[in-house]
Amino acid sequence: MSAIGSAVAAMGPGPLTEAGLREHIFPLFSRVLAREELYLANHSLGRPLDQLEDDLREFASPWFTDMDDAWGPWMEELARFRASIAKLIGLSRPDAVVPKAAAGQGLRAVLNSLPADGSLRPLRLVATRGEFDALDFVLKMYEDKGRTVISWIEPSEDSRSGLPLIDAGDVVRAIRPGVDLVIVSEVFYSTGQVLEGLESIIRGAHAAGALVLVDLYHSAGVIPGRFDELGPDFAVGGSYKYTRGGPGPGWLAIHPRHLVDGTAGPGGDAQPALRTLDTGWFAKKDTFGFQRPTRPLLSSGGDAWLENTPAPVIAYQARAGLELVLAIGVARLRTYSLEQQAFLEGELKKRGVAVRHPDPHGAFLLVPSPDAPGLVRRLKERKVNTDARLGQVRLCPDILTTRDEMARASDIVAAEQKHR
Ligand SMILES: Cc1ncc(COP(=O)(O)O)c(C=O)c1O
Repeated sequence: MSAIGSAVAAMGPGPLTEAGLREHIFPLFSRVLAREELYLANHSLGRPLDQLEDDLREFASPWFTDMDDAWGPWMEELARFRASIAKLIGLSRPDAVVPKAAAGQGLRAVLNSLPADGSLRPLRLVATRGEFDALDFVLKMYEDKGRTVISWIEPSEDSRSGLPLIDAGDVVRAIRPGVDLVIVSEVFYSTGQVLEGLESIIRGAHAAGALVLVDLYHSAGVIPGRFDELGPDFAVGGSYKYTRGGPGPGWLAIHPRHLVDGTAGPGGDAQPALRTLDTGWFAKKDTFGFQRPTRPLLSSGGDAWLENTPAPVIAYQARAGLELVLAIGVARLRTYSLEQQAFLEGELKKRGVAVRHPDPHGAFLLVPSPDAPGLVRRLKERKVNTDARLGQVRLCPDILTTRDEMARASDIVAAEQKHR
């Protein structure tokens, strides 16, 4: 068994406890835990395991010793990465996950596959104002260049939390016949809102002939994956937050209903209805046969969405973090995260700090501030690492955060908030 597998097994199968994590999991993070800081930005850049360095060495090693034979282990590791992401998001088919350098690239690949009939008319989209800049900016550029017409869904103030939340009903009502694609997050980056009613959006979109792309960046690794169950057409996400894989190992997941297996059709040349312009020679049928038929013939299944030469290093980079998350299990991580957030909320409130979160919410809490970036800066000077979005400081404990740390961080947040 791997070191990560043994450490997780040693904790036993029950709920996570701080004592169990301290004894068995903290030692896997000795390098990053040597930092003297109260790290509450786990929703932004996840902390790496020590094993990351060995994994990167394992990427490089066959290159030195075996030169081009290194492609064997490299491609195997990429296949493992795809399988791990599929497992993480609850998708039964590993090849339906396609590595992308960033989530936004996944969105572009989807936009560049539409409309399915290949016509040049502008796409009709429904998207929320709650999408993170990674998707929002791409959408606005397509809109600015006349490639899309977008119905933007505005948030409305939630009476309980006072936060601007997206109402799934508003999204469903905007999906009219003729809409090509709906874009929504499962967990929103600025408020942490878990979008209730995602099922109804997917159902409504499909009834109107539209496709759905879900941004899972703030939910993959936080709430148990339900891709097969929900049945969206696409999902995008990446590794640098909750799966501790750093920047680079992003992904696009495609529902198997849009994939065509190579054996279908005469001569095995059946082509999928959705073909993206974000393509390349690794998406070709029989890439290493080097045949050059006049028309582009795609590989089967999810491989039809690959691009040019892949970057195997991302699979090694993502490996340890994914192994840990999958070994512990997202359901256990979720329960523990909610316990920790409840504790942190209690500590902050005891000290007079207002705390907000929608119900249900993802992995972080919000502290409103008239000068959130300033508060983040002052906290960082006092070695409390957080960040801010749209007037709120985001605080995210993780499995490495102790109760003592949360109490100390709460003291500092309370003091810094009062001082200005
Ligand atoms: C909801 C969401 N989507 C996407 C991203 C990142 O996307 P990309 O990998 O395209 O930079 C983030 C990063 O914070 C995010 O919060």
